[in-house]
Amino acid sequence: MEIENKNQNNNNFQDMIDLFEIDYVYENKPIKRTLDKRSFEDKQSLLENLKKKILEINDCELKKSAKQMVFNDGNPESQIMIIGEGPGQKEDELGKPFVGDAGALLNKMLGAINITRSNIYITNVVNYRPPNNRKPEPSEINRYSVFLREHINIIDPEILILMGSTAMEALFGQKLKISKERGKWKEIIVNQKTYQTILTFHPAYLLRQPEQKKYSWTDLKMIRKRIDELKIST
Ligand code: URA
Repeated sequence: MEIENKNQNNNNFQDMIDLFEIDYVYENKPIKRTLDKRSFEDKQSLLENLKKKILEINDCELKKSAKQMVFNDGNPESQIMIIGEGPGQKEDELGKPFVGDAGALLNKMLGAINITRSNIYITNVVNYRPPNNRKPEPSEINRYSVFLREHINIIDPEILILMGSTAMEALFGQKLKISKERGKWKEIIVNQKTYQTILTFHPAYLLRQPEQKKYSWTDLKMIRKRIDELKIST
């Protein structure tokens, strides 16, 4: 009896759609607001695709003068993702982010809060070394932020650490000042998912302005606290 009723209802529904030539019916079903966890293999193939897209970029001054693309380092399964500015000379030579002096300081900063570098994931806003290590132009930041957002979506971390003003501008635009905004947890939406994000000074800036390290230390302790709350292994 129940089944007959259901069939009858379905038939009536189809008749109505045909009669009124309706091609879309709004269904009040719950929307799925979380991402399914991706397998390691899926992540690898999405990362390879993203790499290809960045390799195919045209008319880019950065790409023209750089030796090679610098894409990532660390563990793609990590719950912690660090975003820097762009490759420097050493990174351009070795094809990996944060392997020069700023990278050595980054390693020390991570060590100070008990994070092993190989347990986290690291990338940059721009993937080619800017000529003479200049800061990327706003148009370049915008262009590469499309790839960066895709990168965040693929890695899908619990915590995003943005180091320096270029990373801040790529995700929050130009209206913020890093000196005001560092050391605060902020939410950012990327591809319909909200990420916990913190802005902090770039290690290269700290090498130039060591007196600012005290602020970084405050930020690092906040990051450690959140890692412990979320029970992320480091
Ligand atoms: N500075 C960055 O922002 N990224 C690197 O990879 C190296 C230095």
